[in-house]
This record gives sequence, C-alpha cells and structure tokens, in this order.
Amino acid sequence: MAMRIYRLRRGAGIEGLELTTTDAPVVGPGEVRIRVRAVSLNQRDLNLARGASGGDPYTPCSDGAGEVVEVGAGVDRWRIGDRVLATFYPAWTDGPPSEAATAAGLGGGALPGMLAEKVVLPQQALVAVPPHLHFEEAATLPCAGVTAWNALFRAGRATAGQSVLLLGTGGVSVWALQLAKAAGLRAIVTSSSDAKLAVARSLGADAVINYRSEPRWHEAVRRETGGCGVDLVVEVGGRDTLVQSLSAARAGGTIALVGGVSGGFGIELPPFALIDRAQTLAGVLVGSREMAQELAAFTELTRLRPVIDRRFRFEQACEAFEYLAGGGHVGKVVVQGPESA
Ligand SMILES: NC(=O)c1ccc[n+]([C@@H]2O[C@H](COP(=O)([O-])OP(=O)(O)OC[C@H]3O[C@@H](n4cnc5c(N)ncnc54)[C@H](OP(=O)(O)O)[C@@H]3O)[C@@H](O)[C@H]2O)c1
Repeated sequence: MAMRIYRLRRGAGIEGLELTTTDAPVVGPGEVRIRVRAVSLNQRDLNLARGASGGDPYTPCSDGAGEVVEVGAGVDRWRIGDRVLATFYPAWTDGPPSEAATAAGLGGGALPGMLAEKVVLPQQALVAVPPHLHFEEAATLPCAGVTAWNALFRAGRATAGQSVLLLGTGGVSVWALQLAKAAGLRAIVTSSSDAKLAVARSLGADAVINYRSEPRWHEAVRRETGGCGVDLVVEVGGRDTLVQSLSAARAGGTIALVGGVSGGFGIELPPFALIDRAQTLAGVLVGSREMAQELAAFTELTRLRPVIDRRFRFEQACEAFEYLAGGGHVGKVVVQGPESA
C-alpha cells in the first residue's frame, strides 16, 4: 500500500525536504506499524538538513506519536489502537548509555524518522501516551521532554527546593521549566525577548532575565539567589553562554550540558574555575526508554501539558522547519500527521 513520506537530502537545507510517496514498510516479527498523528521538530532536524551533504535521502524527525494499526508476530507489548510515542534511541531501553545503544537515533539517517504517514518500529522502542495528552502534545516528549527530564533529574539530580537556571524559551528549556515547577524547584529563565519572558512567568518562572538588555545575566542570576548561584544550569546555549553559566551556578553546583544553540561549542573553558568551585559538568544525551517512561508517568500524574507554540499541517512541513529556524517560538513546533492516513 502506498503512503506519503518526507525525504530530506542531507545538507540541502530546508529546501531539500521533499514530500513523496512510497510503499508502506513491511511489519516484521516483534515490530508494530504506527499511523503517525503528530511530529515535533527539534534543532537537530535543522542541523542535519543544513549539515554536510552526501548519503542517500532519508526521512527526518525523531519525535512523533500515533496509534498502532498493525502488530507483527510475537508482539506482546502493544495492541491495535494503542496510542504510543517513539523513543529517540530505539536500542537504548534502560541503564546507562552505551555506544551500541546510542549509535543511531530516529530520523538521523541511519534509521528512518517520523515525518511519514506510517512508520514501523520495534515494539520495545515505544512508550504509551499519557491518557490526558493529545497526539500533538505527546509528540514533544521523545527528544525535548526526555532531554529536559534527564538534565534535571538524572544528570542534574535536582531535588525539590533547589534552584535551576534555564536558558532561552526553546523546546528543551520550556519543557524543563514546566517539569521544574511541577517538581517544586525554583526556576530562573533567561530570554532575548520580554514577551517570551512574560510567557515564562505565566508558566511559573520565579525570576526572569532578558539576556540582551542584561548581557551580564550571570550576575543577575547570582543576585536572584542571594549571591550564591543556582544549584543547576540546564545549558542549551554552548559557545555564548557556557562560561557565564559556570559563574551563575553555585559552588558545588552542576551544569547539565545539553546543546549549543547560541552557535556551537567553539569555546575555551577555564578548568581551574571548575576545580576552585567544585562544579560538575554533566553531559546529557537525550535519554533511554526508561527515562521516557518516567517522564510519561510524571506528566500523567501532574497533568502537565507541554507548550506547543504552533501547529502546521503535514503538507506544510517546510514552513514548520522555516518557522523553527526563525526562532520566534516558545516551546515546541509541531507538524500534524496526514489527514488521509
Ligand atoms: N544533548 C541532547 O541530547 C540534546 C537534546 C535536545 C536538544 N539538544 C540541543 O539543545 C539546544 C536547544 O534545543 P531546542 O530544541 O530547545 O532548541 P530551540 O527550541 O530551537 O530553542 C532555541 C532557543 O534558544 C535560545 N537561545 C539562543 N541563543 C541563546 C543565548 N545566547 N542565550 C540563551 N538562550 C539562547 C532562544 O531563546 P529566546 O528566543 O527565548 O532568547 C531560542 O529561541 C540545541 O543546541 C539542540 O541541538 C541537545
């Protein structure tokens, strides 16, 4: 049976995204076919589109949710009609990351992604959608949500009453803000925009700082924390923010290293500053299925609803990519599954 699917020519930019038709993949033993109902976009999807060219076109996007429409022989975790979300690394179910488990993520070229009418995935690479979420909300969990969960509670080991600094109002940071508030943390949020900071306030941010009008924002963070600095920074900025994040964290604090949205990682770190203030730099690599299950359970228990900035129809995926690239969003940008699926 034919189905609609996006293919991306690596390095061709957003213009390299093409909607085409192909035969639906066959469901093998231990696999399930999912009708994709929503996909959410991440910086990684943009980075891959704009990165080095070469290789065969592939289906982009790691993050999606949908319903099970067919199960292969031996499938015992899912039934037709179940609502599921994909996990970023199908081979990383639990425990610490290993090179084998994290060798390939969905939509990265080695494995097909979710921007398709239907996908086939191994049964162990799925998590049940929290019942109160619709598919568009559920599609934001696999990368942004799980990364925020890992950065706060696994790598960051945050506990109630502690303070956390969140940089900007993109997908990971807004997820982290919502989780932090639901878990009883004090959240300080930076942004380039006062309007976005007002949204952060409405989501429960305890203090907000405009990093454009206040370029020495690390000092403002210290003032907000009685001169000590925060217990944890969820560091999504990289080049333009990491050194200031070290100053914004308390002695003995943790900087959960997530990304380089300010322009990559070309940076010189002052190692003695880390020693002198006994700080921990903790790398965060999305997360395992176990973490996705923890996140789904927490989301259900707290009735948390992830922030979706804007939705696009399936046929508008290029516009959705352009919109994400423009940086005007707060939270997540979502592409709906095809209506005719
Ligand atoms: N390690 C992992 O497993 C992992 C997982 C997911 C994402 N990431 C990485 O994490 C980063 C964030 O991803 P995302 O999906 O949340 O991106 P996103 O939704 O596109 O977020 C972009 C936002 O980052 C903020 N920003 C940009 N420059 C900044 C600066 N100098 N200081 C503070 N904030 C700044 C801006 O917020 P304002 O507009 O409010 O200023 C911008 O809107 C990316 O580099 C991504 O590749 C890594």
